[in-house]
Amino acid sequence: KKTAIGRAHSKIILIGEHAVVYGKPAIALPFPSLEVVSSVKEISGDLFLTCRYFVGKLEEAPKDLKGIATCITETLKNLKQPAKGLQIKIDSSVPIGRGLGSSASSAIAVVKSLYQYFEQKLSKTKLLELVHISETYAHGNPSGIDMVAASSSHPLWFERDGETYPVKIKSPLHLVVADTGRIGETLEAVESIRKNSLLSPIKVRHSIDLLGDYTLRTKEALAEGNSLLVGSMMDAAHNELKKLGVSDTELDHLVQIAKERGALGAKLTGGGKGGCMIALASSLEHAKDLAGALLQNGAAQAWSYIIE
Ligand code: MEV
Repeated sequence: KKTAIGRAHSKIILIGEHAVVYGKPAIALPFPSLEVVSSVKEISGDLFLTCRYFVGKLEEAPKDLKGIATCITETLKNLKQPAKGLQIKIDSSVPIGRGLGSSASSAIAVVKSLYQYFEQKLSKTKLLELVHISETYAHGNPSGIDMVAASSSHPLWFERDGETYPVKIKSPLHLVVADTGRIGETLEAVESIRKNSLLSPIKVRHSIDLLGDYTLRTKEALAEGNSLLVGSMMDAAHNELKKLGVSDTELDHLVQIAKERGALGAKLTGGGKGGCMIALASSLEHAKDLAGALLQNGAAQAWSYIIE
């Protein structure tokens, strides 16, 4: 029997998370160490879903999977296929709720695998339109950066309702990603900033504006190959995210450890309040060293990789 496969990697946000919700730019990077593979095959009967949280009929999937379930049925509608007779199996190494774009990566892999199965061409616009359905369930009012970043193999400049284009990188970036092991509540973090912006509009606006400036300066620093400046922008961004109330003691602790071990920059990545942090190292060796230090100091997982 025919089987079709769709893949998507994970993503990180280098700089600009949260501010991106308010129209500021952000820079996202692919994170290929973690990926989602979706496979589709023919079965008899109802649509059947196999993933790490659930094995059973799609229509009986729990509330948390509503986004992906709706994305599957909408994709089949677009393909003009009946919603039955298929098994969709999602294998993911992306931990959920860590700001690594797990929901977007899953939806991208699933949509790709269904289009592959029915041998239909899938445009980028259609892919993002279908994935957006699932992202709306996962994040409420997402800026869309996760799905755009997880479907791109290049570093990206992203603006909500604005331009998305590849960011030039002159010298390789040695990065470390470390997971606090705790689920970050992106939805809650986004909501807490929104509430704060009603209570202290000037303060919040100021932080958002600064984050926007830091993203712009990071783009320039990347184009010039000035890693020192990229690092200091990351530090400054973490500081603003802290002021906005979306960091926490574990993230701050890991950021501090990375800085003590000579990271050029370190910050939380994604929604915050749990989830992951990233650090910029000066070499591959240094990145491995930082990953080891973060693991010894409470990180549940850590990865080092290069962006070229
Ligand atoms: C989540 O990865 C990034 C946030 O900026 C939320 C969003 O852009 O939708 C925190």
